[in-house]
Amino acid sequence: MIHLRKPTSQDGSKIFQLAQTAGSLDVNSAYHYLLMCQKFSDTCVVAVEMEEPIGFLTAFRDPERSEILFIWQIAVSQYHRQQGIARKMVNHLLMREFQPEIRFLETTITRSNVASQTLFRNLAKELDSELKEQIFFDKELFSETGHEAEHLFQIGPFNHNLQR
Ligand SMILES: CC(C)(COP(=O)(O)OP(=O)(O)OC[C@H]1O[C@@H](n2cnc3c(N)ncnc32)[C@H](O)[C@@H]1OP(=O)(O)O)[C@@H](O)C(=O)NCCC(=O)NCCS
Repeated sequence: MIHLRKPTSQDGSKIFQLAQTAGSLDVNSAYHYLLMCQKFSDTCVVAVEMEEPIGFLTAFRDPERSEILFIWQIAVSQYHRQQGIARKMVNHLLMREFQPEIRFLETTITRSNVASQTLFRNLAKELDSELKEQIFFDKELFSETGHEAEHLFQIGPFNHNLQR
């Protein structure tokens, strides 16, 4: 049985491990995941099975446009993929009460990340919303060689109230 909830700092190191083993993620420091669990838990989700985190989503409200929820990272353990857990984590987040309401979801995705693109394209359909895509960070902006361009996917506007 998989349970979705807000993360606490106790989940931080396991979430860090999930990020390290997920593949195709830019792994942040252990401190970063602890901070997200502690200070941004209202906009983050952890999926747990028998008390063990098996998936996580980190997000924050855009500091300049609070109706936008920006999903920073989402990952599910290899073993639990393609079972709808990522989609459920996003829907779970949208079931929470936010003031003001969330009207847009944003994230950035590389061209090679087909799973993530499919997830967000399908979410847009589910939310009956437009999906806009544009280059956000061109590859030249990354000091790391070979880093792909990051494309901004924006879903919305949608009526957050109707999701609950
Ligand atoms: C992206 C990721 C989180 C998706 O998690 P998941 O739990 O397997 O996704 P879901 O089962 O909820 O699938 C959502 C949709 O995407 C599709 N999908 C998932 N993985 C897919 C894949 N590898 N190829 C094509 N489609 C895929 C599913 O079929 C599903 O479609 P549906 O809505 O028609 O049923 C997971 O693949 C992952 O952890 N990847 C590594 C980390 C990463 O790249 N994160 C994103 C960038 S931050």
